[in-house]
Amino acid sequence: MKREHITLSTFLDSPLCGSDKLRFGRVSVLIMLTIFPFILLTWEIGSGNSEYVGSETCKGCHEKIYASYTKSIHGKKEISGAPTHREGCESCHGPGAQHVEKGGGKGVDLLVFGRKTNARSKNAKCLACHDISKDMPFWDLSKHKTMDVSCVDCHSIHSAKVKKGMLTAEEPDLCFSCHKRIRAQTNKQSHHPVREGKVKCSDCHNAMGTSNSKGMIKADSVNDLCYKCHAEKRGPFAFEHPPVQENCLSCHEIHGSNHSRLLVRKVPLLCQSCHTVSGHKSTPYTNLHSFTGTATARKNMFFSRSCLNCHGNIHGSSRSPEFIR
Ligand code: HEC
Ligand code: HEC
Ligand code: HEC
Ligand code: HEC
Ligand code: HEC
Ligand code: HEC
Ligand code: HEC
Ligand code: HEC
Ligand code: HEC
Ligand code: HEC
Repeated sequence: MKREHITLSTFLDSPLCGSDKLRFGRVSVLIMLTIFPFILLTWEIGSGNSEYVGSETCKGCHEKIYASYTKSIHGKKEISGAPTHREGCESCHGPGAQHVEKGGGKGVDLLVFGRKTNARSKNAKCLACHDISKDMPFWDLSKHKTMDVSCVDCHSIHSAKVKKGMLTAEEPDLCFSCHKRIRAQTNKQSHHPVREGKVKCSDCHNAMGTSNSKGMIKADSVNDLCYKCHAEKRGPFAFEHPPVQENCLSCHEIHGSNHSRLLVRKVPLLCQSCHTVSGHKSTPYTNLHSFTGTATARKNMFFSRSCLNCHGNIHGSSRSPEFIR
């Protein structure tokens, strides 16, 4: 369809407006003003909706991409919902007649997935098939959606670096490219072995959203997540240490910490953030064996593992109410 500019004067001259402009006077102008935007709107939709030409036409000028597309999951004939059974290339790029008519070219009359196209329009193309309700029921809750991250920031259709999942880069580099602070944390002395490749970000998170909108973690609560890999911490214990059941993050960082065992603070400071020294039985302690006195290293109860020298089973115990055994 050819693009025509509809202006106020061409409209007044058109048959739509009737032959006798004077008789209608102001009323016609009013009517006109109400229907004018309407006409513009239908015209806009009309012009955007040009023809589909089919992937074979695209092949002529984009042979390499065509070849890789037919080998990819989206080009597979065996998969019934794949683009190849819909509009092929144009399932994602939109109707291509105008692009072809004009001999192609960068940015010419197609949806491209570059920086200038907003995330919403890009994602809408993917979500037309990757049904929110089936494939990614929690996309609407994901922080990535809210923050306008697009599918193609993480996935590449034509030049995926990682075949499985068609990712733009391997984890964790994919995630580090935006999450610099987390990257810094994984460099700390104690960290989950993400860099070492033993744990992936996606073992704990779903980048496309989870039912747990807080942190997009793959579990109903932080503790349930931790129990998946640290089952022994779940108990049950005859004598529980309340903060452990409540939230592992009372004492642990997740991604990295400068204190051993991912602790948020050093022991004894960690313990003392909740426990006062004064409540502790005083008998074992003298000035030389003291929490507060002038004891030297070897005599000091804080020596080495400090509180943990005695309270070794800090996550709970079945034998000792003080987690000594
Ligand atoms: C007559 C040749 C020709 C045909 C047919 C053609 N293209 Fe293109 N297309 C080009 C040229 C030339 C470019 C610009 C150079 C480039 O980026 O490769 C281009 C660029 C593109 C781009 C990138 C636009 C950008 O701004 O980066 C996309 C996407 C594209 N074409 C998709 C298609 C699709 C889909 C079809 C089939 C509906 C198609 N092309 C058919 C010639 C063609
Ligand atoms: C015309 C439908 C359609 C469109 C549009 C579409 N996909 Fe797909 N996609 C499929 C089908 C069908 C599969 C294979 C079955 C499945 O795993 O769901 C698939 C598979 C995938 C996979 C999984 C690959 C793997 O290794 O398991 C990813 C990732 C993907 N698509 C991303 C995208 C992105 C990103 C977009 C938008 C740029 C998009 N898709 C647009 C239909 C589509
Ligand atoms: C922040 C990065 C990120 C964003 C944004 C993202 N994905 Fe993913 N996606 C991933 C990762 C990581 C995987 C897991 C790949 C694997 O299995 O190792 C994945 C997997 C998939 C899969 C494979 C099937 C599955 O559920 O595991 C599909 C399909 C998919 N994504 C489609 C999409 C679509 C559509 C969008 C946009 C609405 C999108 N993704 C947005 C990172 C992302
Ligand atoms: C499933 C969605 C999807 C399908 C189907 C698809 N594309 Fe693309 N296309 C994209 C996305 C997303 C990009 C952005 C770069 C990327 O992710 O690889 C892109 C980029 C392009 C580009 C420009 C960048 C480049 O790599 O040169 C061209 C040209 C192109 N596509 C042509 C085609 C042609 C031709 C077909 C059919 C043979 C096709 N596309 C099928 C989603 C798709
Ligand atoms: C293109 C940039 C980008 C990439 C790539 C990316 N993210 Fe994000 N992510 C964001 C932005 C922006 C936010 C929101 C601001 C923030 O919390 O840092 C976010 C937030 C998050 C959050 C916090 C959610 C919340 O509720 O606070 C998690 C978890 C997350 N991303 C995980 C991942 C994982 C895992 C990957 C790799 C598979 C990844 N991201 C890749 C941009 C990105
Ligand atoms: C062992 C599980 C685990 C691994 C591995 C993991 N995370 Fe997390 N992540 C969590 C938990 C738990 C939270 C906190 C959720 C909460 O606050 O409720 C979180 C929070 C986040 C947040 C939001 C809060 C913040 O600190 O900004 C981001 C962003 C994030 N993770 C990104 C990543 C990235 C990127 C990777 C991979 C390098 C990764 N995570 C690896 C479990 C994990
Ligand atoms: C996907 C599996 C997985 C999940 C989920 C997980 N972890 Fe881990 N965790 C590991 C692995 C693997 C190690 C390293 C074990 C080793 O090196 O022997 C580890 C080590 C640790 C360490 C010891 C670190 C050190 O420096 O020695 C702590 C503490 C820890 N995890 C706490 C947690 C907490 C808290 C959670 C919940 C937020 C959690 N983990 C969730 C797999 C996981
Ligand atoms: C009251 C503080 C506290 C809470 C809450 C806590 N931990 Fe710990 N955790 C510690 C301390 C202290 C250590 C170091 C123990 C040591 O060095 O012997 C530790 C060590 C660990 C270790 C590594 C050594 C080992 O015992 O395997 C893992 C894994 C761990 N904790 C997981 C968890 C999980 C999972 C939770 C939540 C269910 C949790 N922690 C809750 C204080 C806590
Ligand atoms: C987040 C707060 C918190 C932290 C941190 C914490 N605790 Fe506790 N701890 C508690 C609470 C609450 C109780 C239950 C007190 C009660 O039942 O009167 C408890 C109980 C105990 C008990 C048993 C008390 C009794 O009366 O039987 C011991 C022993 C103990 N903690 C030692 C430690 C040690 C050692 C550390 C450091 C590794 C530590 N706690 C860190 C909150 C904490
Ligand atoms: C030399 C071994 C030893 C060290 C070191 C030690 N405790 Fe204890 N703690 C005990 C014993 C034994 C008991 C139980 C008998 C009693 O009540 O004295 C106990 C009891 C407790 C109790 C429960 C009774 C009360 O007083 O509330 C708490 C809480 C406690 N310790 C916290 C700590 C903290 C925090 C540290 C480190 C700052 C620490 N302990 C270091 C041996 C130790």
